[in-house]
Amino acid sequence: MFYVFLIQGVQPMYVCLCHGITERDIESAVDEGVRSLKELSATLGVATQCGKCSCHAKQCLRESIDRRHEGQQMHYAAITAI
Ligand code: FES
Repeated sequence: MFYVFLIQGVQPMYVCLCHGITERDIESAVDEGVRSLKELSATLGVATQCGKCSCHAKQCLRESIDRRHEGQQMHYAAITAI
């Protein structure tokens, strides 16, 4: 059985238990330019052992990329409003 820690703010939200990778690690990887599961696997080792984390890792990757784009759009909107 595959378990994920769901208590945010208290414990890190683990995505890949085999490698101890958290959502924050994925967010940091996105900040450093990672944009695909293949790149995430090469960088952090996500989904390279049992593979059970691949769907959740993909979802976290997408959400991190979306948040990053939203942040950039808000920054652009703030700049153009000046
Ligand atoms: S949980 Fe990520 S490879 Fe096993």
